[in-house]
Amino acid sequence: MRFAGDGGVVAVPRRHKITVVGAGMTGATTAHWCLVEDLGDVVLYDVVEGLPQGKALDLLEATPLAAVDARIVGTGSWEDTRDSDVVVITAGSPRKPGMSRRDLLTINTAVVSEVARQAMSRSPDAVCIVLTNPVDVMAYVALRSTGLPPQRVVGQAGILDTTRFRAFIAQELGVSVRDVQALVLGGHGDTMVPLIRLAQVGGVPLTELLPKDSLDRIVQRTRQGGAEIVGLLKTASAFYAPGAALAQMVAAVLRDRGRVLPAPAYLQGEYGLQGLYTGVPVILGAGGVLRILEVSLEPEEREAFVRSAAEVRSAMDELPPDF
Ligand code: LAC
Repeated sequence: MRFAGDGGVVAVPRRHKITVVGAGMTGATTAHWCLVEDLGDVVLYDVVEGLPQGKALDLLEATPLAAVDARIVGTGSWEDTRDSDVVVITAGSPRKPGMSRRDLLTINTAVVSEVARQAMSRSPDAVCIVLTNPVDVMAYVALRSTGLPPQRVVGQAGILDTTRFRAFIAQELGVSVRDVQALVLGGHGDTMVPLIRLAQVGGVPLTELLPKDSLDRIVQRTRQGGAEIVGLLKTASAFYAPGAALAQMVAAVLRDRGRVLPAPAYLQGEYGLQGLYTGVPVILGAGGVLRILEVSLEPEEREAFVRSAAEVRSAMDELPPDF
């Protein structure tokens, strides 16, 4: 576009810039959701030559159909990620059947500490959202290896666990997913804590709508949600719902929505815990975690939450001293 009298300067709209590190299934799907939601320009980074370039080009070619004017590039150069507003880290190995998220700890610590340093040194004002598993520990690795303030390093897990919980509840009741509100706390593992007491369907407590055995079954399926999909896919873990969850977090940050969402956040005394990431409700907006909300828990919920946090802590004990 040329404006009269501007000396022929080309006007380029300033859009938000989102870097997605890792062009595997989850990274590419995250880029896809971000484009469909028109959240900004996307840089898809990966070390595998051709992978980010090919997927980004494919997505770019879909933008006329999505009616979105975003630029999307695939790259193996960190320089292309410079000055991003949000950096999403999906790089690392996914689970294979029979593996726990924790089995990935050693290999993914090396990957996450390196990519977090590389990306955040070029986008020092960005919010960093970590998805790589075991996510509660990897968010901590990103925090420590970048030296960023904790508000700007957050994990993605609780939205995924909660959307699974909500989907199963809606399916069981035959109602709209829109009307199901729920919350899952704790680490992203088998000890996560779906809070049945606080779940509501159109304002009606879930406990009034479903018998205990159905609730127990849904909670169990939610806890095993990731493993159920790994078991089916065999060579990959889930990516549609994780990508959608990440895009929701990106949107909350870029649009300063002040969304109240569960996410692994760095606790500094909240819930009586110190110096670790685990899933809690946060207010997410421009700049990252604006606040951690402390929900009062019943004794058995609290016990389950503490047990889940203890599991994160014991995984952190396996971290190499100098990652
Ligand atoms: C899952 C993996 C991504 O829960 O942690 O599907």
